[in-house]
Amino acid sequence: MDLSVEFAGVRLASCLMNAAGALCVTRDELEALGRARSGAIVTKSMTPALRRGNPDPRYHSFPGGSINSMGLPNLGAPAYAALLPDLRRFGKPVIASVAGLSTAEFLEAARAITAVRPDLVEVNLSCPNIPGKPQIGYDVQASRALLRQLREVVTVPMGVKLPPYFDPVHQDATAAMLREAGVAFVSVINSVGNGLVVDPERECAVIKPKGGFGGLGGAMIKPVALANVRAFWKLFGGRMPILGTGGVVSGADVFEHGLCGASAVQVGTALMDEGVGVFERLERELGEILARKGYRSFEDCRGKLREL
Ligand code: SIN
Repeated sequence: MDLSVEFAGVRLASCLMNAAGALCVTRDELEALGRARSGAIVTKSMTPALRRGNPDPRYHSFPGGSINSMGLPNLGAPAYAALLPDLRRFGKPVIASVAGLSTAEFLEAARAITAVRPDLVEVNLSCPNIPGKPQIGYDVQASRALLRQLREVVTVPMGVKLPPYFDPVHQDATAAMLREAGVAFVSVINSVGNGLVVDPERECAVIKPKGGFGGLGGAMIKPVALANVRAFWKLFGGRMPILGTGGVVSGADVFEHGLCGASAVQVGTALMDEGVGVFERLERELGEILARKGYRSFEDCRGKLREL
C-alpha cells in the first residue's frame, strides 16, 4: 500500500511521524526516529537555550491516555542546529518545532534553526505547561503578532501547532488569522491542556508540576482531535495541509484522521508507550484497512468523510 504523501511541498515516504515532544529530545532519540519507519523526524519544541523543564514526575500514562507537564525540556536551538546535518543521513525530512517563553525567544530559536534549513518549521503556539504563560494559540491577536515577526525570520515553509478548540467561533477566527499570516500547514491538536488525573489510593495528583494540572493525550482525546482536523479542513476548503495529531493508537485511528482531512498523522502517547516500533504496526494496520476498503493509497482517502 502506498502510504507516501506530499506534505507542504515535502515528500514523505510514510504519512506517519512522531508528534513533537514524544521521544525526540536527545540525539539518541532523534537518530532512533531516523532509523524507524517514521516518515519524518520531528524535533522537540526548541527554545533558544537548553531547558531542563518542570520537576518530576511530569509524565504519566494510564489506560486510555496520558497526562504530561514536561515544561519544554530541550537541548536548545543551537544544539539542534548542530545536530541537523547528521540527521540528514537518514534521508527523510526534518521538521523543527520552535517555541519560546517570549516573542524574542521564539525569534531567536527560529533564527538559529532556520540557518541550517530544516525542511519545515512547526511553530508551537500551544504548550499548556509553562506556569504563568498562557497558550498563545488561544489569543488570536498575540498569535497574529508573533507569526508576523516569525514570517520575517523563517525562510522555509512554516506551520503552526494549535491547541484544541471547542467552539467553531474560535476555529473561524484562528483560520482567518492563519490565512492572513500565510502559514504553510496546520498541526492539530496539541494536548488538551490543564486536565487533572487523580490517584485515589494515594489521594494525590499523578504529576507534580502546576499542582497536577497537565496536557491530556492518547486515545481519550481522539474525538477532539478529529473535530479540529475536520473543522480546519473545511475552513481552508481542503487546500491547507493538515497534520493530524491526537488519539492515534491504531491504524484505524490514522484512517479516521485521513478521512477528516489530515495529510499526515503524528503519534505521541502510543509512541511513548511502545517505542519506535509503533510506526511499523500502524503502517501494517493502516495498509490492511485501506486495502480492504479499496483505496490505493493514504492520499486517496483524504477528506472523504461522509456527513449524514
Ligand atoms: C511540554 O514540554 O510541556 C509539552 C510541549 C507541548 O505541549 O507543547
